[in-house]
Amino acid sequence: MIDLNFKYKTLLNYVNDQMPFYPEISLILGSGLGEFADKIKIVKSIKTEDIPNYPKSTVQGHKGFLHFAELFNKNILVFQGRIHLYEGYNIDQAIIPVFIAKELKTKYILLTNAAGGVNLNFNPGDLMLTTGFLAHNIKKELTDVLSLPTAEQRKNILNLPSKEFNEIIKKAALEENVFLQQGNYWFNSGPTYETPAEIKMQSKFGADAVGMSTVHEAFFAGVNGINVSAISLITNYAAGLSPQKLSHQEVIETAELAKEKFERLVKRIIKLV
Ligand code: HPA
Repeated sequence: MIDLNFKYKTLLNYVNDQMPFYPEISLILGSGLGEFADKIKIVKSIKTEDIPNYPKSTVQGHKGFLHFAELFNKNILVFQGRIHLYEGYNIDQAIIPVFIAKELKTKYILLTNAAGGVNLNFNPGDLMLTTGFLAHNIKKELTDVLSLPTAEQRKNILNLPSKEFNEIIKKAALEENVFLQQGNYWFNSGPTYETPAEIKMQSKFGADAVGMSTVHEAFFAGVNGINVSAISLITNYAAGLSPQKLSHQEVIETAELAKEKFERLVKRIIKLV
């Protein structure tokens, strides 16, 4: 068990000294979705490279910023760029954004990501609301950062993703006329995309989408009683489901095409929380 408050004391002190307000809702922007941060009123930006012990973003499409922003009179914390395990970081580093959001007493966390579509009804450009997380292959690492001492915390994990938050997200999608697929997000550690054989297995085991992030963030938030949910932008057919070769470039290009509806949806969610 890692004592995050001890390990990241200087990091937290730095953010605490700079922050203009406590955020009601926090967002982590996934691959290719970082531009959302340009569409809201930024009150204060902190470069992650200036924060002591904050891991460096090494992936294209992931800038390193924490933005304190405002929209519809709501205080928001936006992480532009996330920390992936496949970059070589440990689990306690990968959950730092959620840890910060938790320490700043956020009530809602919306995790966004780019993912491969496993469900044959999904097409690149679709948005998927997560209705379940498949995380068996990260449970061991999670024990380093999750302690479940109280009955309350053990119960929280069952409300993952938050039912209340998912209802808000569905309502926002209806109001914005954005079609939302729904399904289970399966975590793969990467760093490579999956093999077609892995996708075949994961499909049989209930995966609708696959990606390399989000699940540990969601568990950490959920255990700590935060309303957490996730939206995936399906950027490609998962390995073996189409003749096309997977590439990070394809992920970025599809994100570009879908960003307008993604932005409308996220703004409406912020309005409704
Ligand atoms: N697999 C894993 N991660 C991804 C994919 C994929 O197909 N697409 C975008 N992120």
